Amino acid sequence: MTTLSNDKPTAISIRNVSQRYGEAGSSGAVVALQDISLDIRQGEFLCLLGPSGCGKSTLLNIVGGLFSATEGQVKVGDKIVKGPLPADISFVFQESTLYPWYTIRENFDVAFKFQRVPRNEWKERTASALQAVGMSSFIDHFPNQLSVGMRQRVNLARGIALKTDIILMDEPFAALDEQTRMVLGEDLSELLAATKKTIVFVTHSLAEAVFLSDRIVVMTARPGRIKTIVEVNEPHPRSPDFMLQPRFSELRNELYALLRDEIRQAIATTGGSVRPSGD
Ligand SMILES: Nc1ncnc2c1ncn2[C@@H]1O[C@H](COP(=O)(O)OP(=O)(O)OP(=O)(O)O)[C@@H](O)[C@H]1O
Ligand SMILES: [Mg+2]
Repeated sequence: MTTLSNDKPTAISIRNVSQRYGEAGSSGAVVALQDISLDIRQGEFLCLLGPSGCGKSTLLNIVGGLFSATEGQVKVGDKIVKGPLPADISFVFQESTLYPWYTIRENFDVAFKFQRVPRNEWKERTASALQAVGMSSFIDHFPNQLSVGMRQRVNLARGIALKTDIILMDEPFAALDEQTRMVLGEDLSELLAATKKTIVFVTHSLAEAVFLSDRIVVMTARPGRIKTIVEVNEPHPRSPDFMLQPRFSELRNELYALLRDEIRQAIATTGGSVRPSGD
């Protein structure tokens, strides 16, 4: 069992990051993030939680170097992020990003090639990651021969197989049924205990956030700022028994109380009807 100590080195440092879409002052300009500063520790599972449109995906994409923030800076270790860092960071998105014209094996190989993983490691990495998500027997299938949930499990396995120290996950389980989410959540917790990866994870599920996270960053309605950070303090790997402990419900209720006003505000400004799922 591993517990995250507060003196772990910083894996990702985010300093005064703000993001505006559109020309400043123009009618279409949107301030998505405002002055975000945060240190993410090595081996930490950090969750971003907040109302729809508060800038969670924007922040994840900036951390991953998919585009640069209008203000502020992100560092991964000693490197200032100016573009993608495929040797350090992999992504798992909500929609599986598998190429439809390649088999599962070939999809892994393409990613390995891009990340310059030595060829003699490809087979073993693919096999063990697929095994971790129970998808070994589908290695020669094409993505459209799998269900949405199976595709997403493969997508997750590919993120694991790349062996970068950091994985950024944007609602990776959103399209999955609840049981699969729970099983994959347990797998992720195991992975964290075994590999010390740093994971930044976006979800709308309060239960998922509590079950998986070392720390949960609660964001405000747009423009997204850090409202507060909730510590979970439970060693990985976590078992479903954790969900039965009074502390689990207390944390979930605390998160809901923190988010409720923000969500009302987001609804008032966007006219949307988004609520966190209480599952
Ligand atoms: N490329 C873009 N151009 C213009 N506006 C954008 C762009 N991407 C995001 N936005 C706006 O920035 C805000 C934050 O978007 P973002 O997708 O980061 O939110 P989110 O917290 O991930 O929301 P959700 O929970 O719905 O996924 C939203 O108002 C969105 O409309
Ligand atoms: Mg998003």
